[in-house]
Amino acid sequence: MSTHITVPPQQLLERILTLEIVRVTERAAVSAARLRGHGQEKAADQAAVDAMRRELNKMPIDGTIVIGEGERDEAPMLYIGEKVGINAGPKVDIAVDPLEGTTLCAKDMPGSIATMAMADGGTLLHAPDVYMDKIAIGPGYAKNVIDIDASPEENIKRLAKAKGVPVSAITALVLERPRHEALIAAIRSTGAALRLIPDGDVAGVIHTTDPAKSGIDIYLGIGGAPEGVLAAAALRCIGGQMQTRLILDTDEKRERALKMGVTDPKMIYGIEDMAKGDCLFAATGVTDGALLSGVKFRGDVIETETIVMRSVTGTVRIIKGEHRQLEKFHLD
Ligand code: FBP
Repeated sequence: MSTHITVPPQQLLERILTLEIVRVTERAAVSAARLRGHGQEKAADQAAVDAMRRELNKMPIDGTIVIGEGERDEAPMLYIGEKVGINAGPKVDIAVDPLEGTTLCAKDMPGSIATMAMADGGTLLHAPDVYMDKIAIGPGYAKNVIDIDASPEENIKRLAKAKGVPVSAITALVLERPRHEALIAAIRSTGAALRLIPDGDVAGVIHTTDPAKSGIDIYLGIGGAPEGVLAAAALRCIGGQMQTRLILDTDEKRERALKMGVTDPKMIYGIEDMAKGDCLFAATGVTDGALLSGVKFRGDVIETETIVMRSVTGTVRIIKGEHRQLEKFHLD
């Protein structure tokens, strides 16, 4: 009897692309890391963008950037709508943040990453570059433990009950911003612990998926909408719950959102609304962080650490790369 197993071509390609997207975030991270600590946000971001675009354009995909560096007139590269890949292969949506945490990289502070997600064409939310209210917890809880319309106090109490611990054993993660003053006070009033981060809420949301390692149970607050879609793609692969709402508080923002297909400005998005289809997610550390180690330059060898996930199987891999002669292969 034959034990030959056939993998459908689409799935086979997707498995191969899992490693390909690692190359993309690795190269972006290395390019940004060369400018780590030099106080040059824009230059580091540009280096990551250039490297990411170069690698994306080698991939056997018919890709469209849906979350990128901005609209076509404000971003010369990786703008929303830009086609990437060799224009052959599967039609895919691509969300990128070549350098998430530009200030963290410029100041050589923990937590900056190079990240991207790839999904079946037409399945990632086309989010305008506005703020987004977000709440997220990790996997293993019954549905509807969190509710974006409930108070922070209520959400934290519900989570503690669902986890079977006192509220004081819950740690929330919030971006440290003046706009979060009331949120921070509300969380403190419950007795829960709070970790405040200066930047980087893609990694912030992902922290909730492994509280034992990260120490974070819940993410709350307002960050960028593009970062929200990237985080949703990661949670689609790894599990967890997330609810978001775009902050469309002016006519101009509502019009921009409408142009991108957002007809209900008050809609609450779940993970499946932001990442509807199968997807891949990768992030490489630029600076050291709780999630990933940053790039290490060791003589002729450059070391990277990347997390890559695939929603079809839920597999999460941490890939350590040792790169030799990177320049030579950059410039082909
Ligand atoms: P950049 O990498 O573009 O600097 O974004 C960093 C970040 O902290 C994101 O993680 C977050 O979603 C967003 O900025 C929050 O925006 P703001 O700094 O305006 O509060």
